[in-house]
Amino acid sequence: MNSGILSGKIALVTGASRGIGRAVAVELARQGAHVIAVARSAHSLSGLVEELGAACSPAPCELGRREDVEKLAEFVRTKWKRLDILVANAAIMGPRTMLGNLEDDDWREVIDTNVTANWRLIRHFDTLLRAAEAGRAVFVTSGAGSRGKMAAGRGAYAISKAALDALARSYATETEASRVRVMLCNPGLLRTDLRASIAPDEDPMSLRTPADFAPKVVQLCLPTWTQTGKMYDFPQDRILEFRGPE
Ligand SMILES: NC(=O)c1ccc[n+]([C@@H]2O[C@H](COP(=O)([O-])OP(=O)(O)OC[C@H]3O[C@@H](n4cnc5c(N)ncnc54)[C@H](OP(=O)(O)O)[C@@H]3O)[C@@H](O)[C@H]2O)c1
Repeated sequence: MNSGILSGKIALVTGASRGIGRAVAVELARQGAHVIAVARSAHSLSGLVEELGAACSPAPCELGRREDVEKLAEFVRTKWKRLDILVANAAIMGPRTMLGNLEDDDWREVIDTNVTANWRLIRHFDTLLRAAEAGRAVFVTSGAGSRGKMAAGRGAYAISKAALDALARSYATETEASRVRVMLCNPGLLRTDLRASIAPDEDPMSLRTPADFAPKVVQLCLPTWTQTGKMYDFPQDRILEFRGPE
């Protein structure tokens, strides 16, 4: 596993226990990277650890908790003194309900996990990404945050992804003069637990898989990747520019 194009690189993937994060972790390791795999429990990461062996360091972390993210950064700083690749992928959907009926705790959990945790990753890993020869940060977003017409009953999730888009693009501007490159990526509909939870009647076999998507994410992590502040859209297989009122 060590002779790929990412040989010697240190990559951190959040939400690595299943779905898209797990597939990206496997693909990064296949290309030679050492993967720091983040999810809430060691138990949920055990399958990945078994699959990747020495190419993986499991790092259980509740991303919504400040101290956990601080400890995670301290672990990486002490052991490697840099981070080559950050794939910020973990997210939750929250309950399906109209904004007017959303409970405080549900709102907070979605925003904490999908937005605040990703800001904290930037806050605590920025120096480590800048210390790398070619730091790469990829944020997994969703079309839900930028549709012309927003879906009903998914407000907190859509709002969190719109905020994530702005967060990643702000970070891209702030790192423009450095070696760090920052990309968003939109998976479209993929066969995962998260998708099954919101579309239980859909035939999962009609969807593409995280393994189909993972090599595209890895492309955005390569030292040769030059673009920043843009979105890779998997359904259209192209890079989208953000446009708004100037
Ligand atoms: N699947 C799709 O069709 C689709 C479409 C558009 C966008 N996306 C985006 O793609 C990303 C991955 O989605 P997925 O479908 O692979 O989801 P998933 O199967 O539900 O996996 C979510 C991952 O996030 C981790 N996670 C959740 N909350 C966490 C927390 N507080 N702290 C640490 N880890 C946490 C989970 O780990 P544990 O539960 O083990 O802790 C799990 O590994 C998300 O950003 C999602 O919004 C997915």
